[in-house]
Amino acid sequence: MSGSLPATPKVPFGGDYNPEQWPEDVWKEDYRLFDAARIDTVTLGVFDWALTQPAPETYDFTVLDRVVARAAAAGRRICLATGTGAHPAWLARAYPEVTRTDFEGRRHRFGQRHNSCPNSPVFRRLSAELARRVARRYAGNPAVVAWHVGNEYGGACYCELCAAGFRDWLRARYGTLTALNSAWYTTFWSHTFTDWDEIEPPSALTEHWRGPNHTAFQGTTLDYLRFMSDAMLANFRDEKAAIRESSDLPVTTNFMGMYRPIDYHRWAPHLDFASWDNYPPDDESPSWMALAHDLMRGLKDGQPFWLMEQTPSYTASRDVNPLKRPGVMRLWSWQAVAHGADAVLFFQMRASRGACEKYHGAVIGHAGRQDTRVFQEVAALGAELERLGPTTLGARTPARVALLFDWDSWWALEISDGPSRHVRYQQVVLAYHRALWDAGVDLDVVPVTADLSRYDVVVAPALHMVKGDLAARLEEVAARGGSVVTTYLSGRVDEFDNAFLMDVPGPLGALMGIRIDEWDARAPEVVNPVRLTGGDAPVEVESRLVFELVVPEGAEVVGTYGADFYAGTPAVTRNDFGAGHGWYVATGLDQAGVSWVLRRVLERHDLVGPYADVPNLEAAVRVAPDGTRLLFLLNHDAEPVEATAHVGGVDLLTGDRIAPGQPLRLDPRGVLVLRHTA
Ligand code: GLA
Ligand code: ZN
Repeated sequence: MSGSLPATPKVPFGGDYNPEQWPEDVWKEDYRLFDAARIDTVTLGVFDWALTQPAPETYDFTVLDRVVARAAAAGRRICLATGTGAHPAWLARAYPEVTRTDFEGRRHRFGQRHNSCPNSPVFRRLSAELARRVARRYAGNPAVVAWHVGNEYGGACYCELCAAGFRDWLRARYGTLTALNSAWYTTFWSHTFTDWDEIEPPSALTEHWRGPNHTAFQGTTLDYLRFMSDAMLANFRDEKAAIRESSDLPVTTNFMGMYRPIDYHRWAPHLDFASWDNYPPDDESPSWMALAHDLMRGLKDGQPFWLMEQTPSYTASRDVNPLKRPGVMRLWSWQAVAHGADAVLFFQMRASRGACEKYHGAVIGHAGRQDTRVFQEVAALGAELERLGPTTLGARTPARVALLFDWDSWWALEISDGPSRHVRYQQVVLAYHRALWDAGVDLDVVPVTADLSRYDVVVAPALHMVKGDLAARLEEVAARGGSVVTTYLSGRVDEFDNAFLMDVPGPLGALMGIRIDEWDARAPEVVNPVRLTGGDAPVEVESRLVFELVVPEGAEVVGTYGADFYAGTPAVTRNDFGAGHGWYVATGLDQAGVSWVLRRVLERHDLVGPYADVPNLEAAVRVAPDGTRLLFLLNHDAEPVEATAHVGGVDLLTGDRIAPGQPLRLDPRGVLVLRHTA
């Protein structure tokens, strides 16, 4: 099942708009301001269930009709939501089964949002019915360009309906209890199941202690994570199928980037296009965002995605909510485009007056002013995007480097007892991504099932679980001359989270030309220096957390530990494999160490970017469907930055011509979008 992006003549600009919270005279003012800011796209109805279905047998589209008609009359494109991200109070009262039961076993009552049990038949029936009615009603409206199902699917439920659903899911996966018992290794601790109904969801009441990451049975918990992700996917698919009865328009739901509970790779085939909400953890996270954008672009095999939400100024849900500095909203918007976003949308158009998001940033604040800095910056970006026109739409990233990202490995690594509770999958991936990002290389972030034949370099940090034919496909990359990089805690378990009955790193051993007999895990403050050789001069870096003791079996030693009883033994190795290499990093190197390793790898393939050594200057390339190459240069610094143009072309934001070799000066947070002439 593939799919496509909504047809738009330019990058859609706008975002979540909730006029149903306001009297209609405010709408008029909204559209006046939308005109001023060139807002051409609105996402409507995301939380409208209580409005559109005020009672079990009553559907009432009066307000949504007006909201949609108004947007259409004003020439806006509409991303129309099904409205099922929060259920109405009457529904929870009439059918308590629609609420969730939490990890501690507490049955929730009405409240909050993203609050429906995914396995509730009533929820499934009524959410699909609402989607069906919304689609039937508005499919014929030419202003509607896309469907937005639910909102930020996530969390989990542990109710009886979910327990029953889990058992069904397990029956389909394993067929027999014998197979399940073997997969879950239930001879351990007297867990052999003799009836499907004995199986309980793994929670605080059953297999867990100290929270969701501490489980006695990893195989069980892993399957529950997969099951929950699939259960919510089934909710999405219910609604999508209902929409399809009357509309062929593209369907999406807004993802959250590196969000652990949902395996977006398993979802991606069912979306027509990917979209996501960019709320970085702090205001200093350009590489975090680059990784998340690349991950989202990788969901649909490199097809552009929509940036469905970002705040124009600040969030409200954090303990502290830093304000985006002047230029930052524009810079981050262009960063999204540079990484494959074909839409730039905000949450939200007008600030809510009450409830928990009243202090969340909006294009239009409570006073409704047009002369605020935030509004002016939004309007300026709107003008830029208008000037840009269709140039970037459909453009692809020409990546020769792939970073593998795997939810199963993420889950398995973080629910594991041993070797270390301090190793966080995202942190490991971020460090390797950061090194690639610093080197200015265009990269794809792809699932472990991706076609790897188009890449020269494949980086697989913390590839804890190795499934299917992955090891063979990685070997092929190296055999034909490519480089494969992996790290400590890789190649440990199969798809059931059972250890490989062979030397570590399991099926990756031959490619890496090493084996690991022992490992050491120490408190975060314990540092073992690592000496790296093979560059111009040896360098010393630090390593932490996990120290695997490597026995080379053909691999060349590139780095050695400097301390402890294993001082002088390998910490980093490189193995000749066919015409290429397998690199193994056996410990948690610091950023300098990771960067050193990846520079060596990239240099071999001549992939270090032309602006690699200009700090805070990010470069990204997209190639438009007609072959036009677009170079994005993004200055993440609050100071100006200087560099030398490595190609010539036209700056699409200013119209200036730039010659190759010409000095470039980017303003603080400055952006340059260069259409190459060569
Ligand atoms: C999410 C949601 C929105 C809103 C914003 C606020 O992304 O989808 O409804 O709550 O966060 O940041
Ligand atoms: Zn449930």
